[in-house]
Amino acid sequence: MEEMRLQKYLAECGVASRRGAEAMIVEGRVTVDGKVVTEMGVKVTGRERIAVDGKPVKPERNKIYIMINKPVGVLSAASDDRGRQCVVDLVEGIRERLYPVGRLDYDTSGLLLLTNDGELTMKLTHPSFEIWKTYEAVVRGEPNEGNVKRFAEGLELDDGPTLPALLTVTGHKGNNAIAEVRIREGRNRQVRRMLEAIRHPVLKLKRTGFGPLELDPDLKPGAWRHLRQDEIDKLKQL
Ligand code: URA
Repeated sequence: MEEMRLQKYLAECGVASRRGAEAMIVEGRVTVDGKVVTEMGVKVTGRERIAVDGKPVKPERNKIYIMINKPVGVLSAASDDRGRQCVVDLVEGIRERLYPVGRLDYDTSGLLLLTNDGELTMKLTHPSFEIWKTYEAVVRGEPNEGNVKRFAEGLELDDGPTLPALLTVTGHKGNNAIAEVRIREGRNRQVRRMLEAIRHPVLKLKRTGFGPLELDPDLKPGAWRHLRQDEIDKLKQL
């Protein structure tokens, strides 16, 4: 194997995303040939004895890519120290350690990817890639043309202006509207905060699209399937 940075090696072993692996290194959890490494930039060839928390790690031979319809009331995480149910717990029968690609709020449902491919995770979640994400929101009241324009221009939020986004009213539910929202950032609770800013707060939120992928309509909340090869290829080509 070619020389590579320790954090990249750890990501390829499916230990965490590359950024997660960097945090593990800084925290002093990683050893190379028995010595704790805390600085970045150390290169390895894979012939060393590399361990995390004392457990040896090996590159994953099998890369797994899963689409799950995350239900409301489940955490987008691999584990939780408060014992709450995590999205990874819903996937049975897979031996490899899986991690969610980004996050959906506890109270958001819909399309979430799970994988042990740390490299792809890093790419798909890095802000510079600006991957489009699509959400279906049930909102209070009905957004008007002015609101659509504010989304298209980018809204001012308390953590700064958003990139231009798309808002389309697609239906009604009593006095409330159903809207499609498309954003290419992934800030904390961003869709909820954007709709709050135009005074049409979210009542229900579901992610229906992530980059080139659409939520499979056959997946009921909590159900999952492996991605098809053409879907994996599209993600890798982004
Ligand atoms: N925006 C939100 O507000 N919540 C999510 O879960 C995802 C995007």
